[in-house]
Amino acid sequence: MKKMIKISLLAAVFGLAWLVNTETAKAAGAEETFKFYCAQCHGLEGKGKGPNVTKDFPVTPRDFTNAKEMSKLSDNYIRGIVMDGGPSQSKSPLMPPWGKTISDADVNGLIKHLRGLCKCQGKAG
Ligand code: HEC
Repeated sequence: MKKMIKISLLAAVFGLAWLVNTETAKAAGAEETFKFYCAQCHGLEGKGKGPNVTKDFPVTPRDFTNAKEMSKLSDNYIRGIVMDGGPSQSKSPLMPPWGKTISDADVNGLIKHLRGLCKCQGKAG
């Protein structure tokens, strides 16, 4: 009987470890999403120098590591431009809309990822 209790305790501990692991996997997911959908223009490091950006681009994607500029953008503004595209915020159509491609959870993760790149907070609103 005692052995049974030990085994279920062990199972509970492993269960917890598994839960913790999937949580960290989710956090890593935002970086993967960024690499997959955004890095070709915004660059792997978010500096706005991805391989798709040519000199024909009339605007260059924002350098996400620029804390001064990034702190001027609210999280809501970022959510809007990512989901509905550049023109929704009077910006260039070269910034595509992602609302049909990525989920709300993904965009929340991306916003966190961008805040990690600039090491800054967005302005309120
Ligand atoms: C095809 C190239 C391209 C891809 C792919 C792309 N972007 Fe952009 N993005 C741009 C360009 C160009 C701008 C600048 C638009 C402007 O300033 O008019 C921009 C602007 C932005 C801005 C607004 C910055 C500001 O200063 O207003 C955010 C936030 C952003 N992109 C996030 C993302 C995210 C997140 C992804 C991936 C889901 C992504 N972009 C994918 C080209 C791209």
